[in-house]
Amino acid sequence: MAARHFLTFADFSSAELHQVIDRAIELKAQHRAGTAGKPLDGKVLGMIFEKASTRTRVSFEAGMAQLGGSAIFLSPNDSQLGRGEPVEDTARVLSRMVDIVMVRTFGHDKLETFARHSTVPVINALTDSYHPCQLLADIQTFVEHRGSMSGKTVAWVGDGNNMANSYIEAAAHFDFQLRLACPEGYEPDADLLARYSDRLQLTHSPSEAVRGAHLVVTDTWASMGQEEEKQQRLAAFAGYQVDHELMALAAPDALFMHCLPAYRGMEVSHELMEDPRYSVIWDEAENRLHAQKALMEFLLA
Ligand code: CP
Ligand code: NVA
Repeated sequence: MAARHFLTFADFSSAELHQVIDRAIELKAQHRAGTAGKPLDGKVLGMIFEKASTRTRVSFEAGMAQLGGSAIFLSPNDSQLGRGEPVEDTARVLSRMVDIVMVRTFGHDKLETFARHSTVPVINALTDSYHPCQLLADIQTFVEHRGSMSGKTVAWVGDGNNMANSYIEAAAHFDFQLRLACPEGYEPDADLLARYSDRLQLTHSPSEAVRGAHLVVTDTWASMGQEEEKQQRLAAFAGYQVDHELMALAAPDALFMHCLPAYRGMEVSHELMEDPRYSVIWDEAENRLHAQKALMEFLLA
């Protein structure tokens, strides 16, 4: 049987995604109570990072250790991938040595090529187009604080980037409405906008998007790989900062999330990040650990 992969939310059914979230919450409780088992005893995770990472690397590596397995970090600098060994060959070789692989890379097509040639499950740990593992953590965090996302309204304020694309897919699977406020020319993927149009509202006005929302989310204005566009982007995103003034338009019990790393004073104000009345960013970061443990367990079951 071909291996199951997790490249985007489209690879899983809604029921499977809900199952992963429920299990993530359970694994977190077990971890805190000291009652967690070692369901992935002896399993090995390969981790390919072609971009920098703090949260993703540590959460996958720590998560695998907590589940009884181990992880191997591979970067282009010290693997043959960086010297031009084809991704197809790397996928076939790693498949014979490890049980599961996570890949952080640039083009989503490269991840798809890897997955096509891998006989073990492949997880998207961020591409230019999607960041589905972060969405698992975001949804877990919302559910823990506010319960089901069904029927809720989420406001995305900022760049129509990999995170925004994954939020669009999440809206369909977790039954929420998504309002996206993006500057002109920085909208999310056009095909996704068309495919999920019944779930989405696109605007150029942050206040319009945020009004009455139960969750407000933003991300950096210049993602990894866009460093050279930074100056141009700073100009384009003027007026898109999420701060207390904007949050005041949201629902009274609205939450604020950011996948991190954040640039305080740019996409989010320092004060909002530090305000526990709205900001659940540290829980959100922690939940990467538990959500990915649940994901790996699911894929290896
Ligand atoms: N949110 C996130 O993926 O963080 P890292 O880039 O630190 O892994
Ligand atoms: N959109 C950001 C997310 C970082 C976790 C990036 O791709 O750099």
